[in-house]
Amino acid sequence: MTTFDQPLTFKSGVTLANRLMMSPMTTQQSFYNGTVTQEEIHYYAERAKGLGAVITGAANVQAAGKGWPGELSIEADTFLPELGQLARAIQAQGAKAIVQIFHAGRMTHAATLGGTQPVSASAVPAQRPDAEVPRELTVPEIQAIVTAFGSATRRAIQAGFDGVELHGANTYLLQQFFSPHSNRRTDEYGGDRTRRYRFIREVIDAVFAAVNQYATRPFLVGYRVSPEEYETPGIRVADTLWLLKQLGDTRLDYVHLSLNDYTRVAKEAEYQDQSLLAYARTALPATPLVGVGGVRTRQDVANVLGTADLVAVGQQLLYDPTWAVKLANGADDAMLTAPFSEAVDFVPLTTPLHHFASGFFRK
Ligand SMILES: Cc1cc2nc3c(=O)[nH]c(=O)nc-3n(C[C@H](O)[C@H](O)[C@H](O)COP(=O)(O)O)c2cc1C
Repeated sequence: MTTFDQPLTFKSGVTLANRLMMSPMTTQQSFYNGTVTQEEIHYYAERAKGLGAVITGAANVQAAGKGWPGELSIEADTFLPELGQLARAIQAQGAKAIVQIFHAGRMTHAATLGGTQPVSASAVPAQRPDAEVPRELTVPEIQAIVTAFGSATRRAIQAGFDGVELHGANTYLLQQFFSPHSNRRTDEYGGDRTRRYRFIREVIDAVFAAVNQYATRPFLVGYRVSPEEYETPGIRVADTLWLLKQLGDTRLDYVHLSLNDYTRVAKEAEYQDQSLLAYARTALPATPLVGVGGVRTRQDVANVLGTADLVAVGQQLLYDPTWAVKLANGADDAMLTAPFSEAVDFVPLTTPLHHFASGFFRK
């Protein structure tokens, strides 16, 4: 049986000291242009101790891929000094530093992009009250985004990170190309699953090309996936199992299943025999799998490790920055927590998260 204190060495050669990861969570504390702030560096360093790895909040690979104000950016070399400080601050606590890289696609607003219309695979808005109609990307623009993912990986290496996580989840651009809702293209980037996967495949190839060219020590690459969409048409479990199979055939070090509850069961009747995490495990027998969603206790950690290889912890680390140290020391009674859904609902996207990240909630 896997326990949280066991190290794990990935295909790339990167070793995590244990199975605990900080789940990617934007803090919205970066400067208006995406430069990491000292507050943000402090926030991550405060939480890194006792974890195998910290995955940063999403960082945009292109200016047009920015999803919200206060987001980290990795789209230019000018960000390297502060990105380097962030990586070193995490590593100084004994954790590996992974930066999550993404392009928001249609899940942003013209106001966030200085008045520019958001872009996506097709000109279809998300099914959300405030969604804007995106502009369909041209093929040269798609190729420029693929290149931008490679350049972002090169910057992550040069800044001293131990890896990147490709954010293919939570409805952002990588997912938008795979989704039949947001991708209605009739060219080589649209159509059946294989054609809708093309953009993802090209991004993964560009990322590994950068690793081959620039990494002088082991550097990991992970990928985050959301299992189901609510839109019709939309990504269904069968599509995700197919996608996981493709990802399992690549050099990826791990796949991270994005869930807000690790016990979650599919909406579709034919996939309700086990949890979505268990279905993902079956589709990915040989690739390390990260489970996440609602982990706050020792028992939750053990439950996730019953199915997955690694546990990502999000909101629990917002409430209790030293939770992982308490877990290792058996100080479970001293862990601080609060109802997660309440916290997420009550934090508007414009409120800096450090207002509720300092652990003032108690059980
Ligand atoms: C404030 C906040 C910011 C988040 N930002 C990101 C992000 O940048 N990238 C991402 O993939 N997921 C993001 N998430 C989702 C978390 O990584 C995680 O999947 C989710 O919160 C469920 O895990 P938890 O119950 O342990 O918090 C965010 C969640 C929260 C609460």
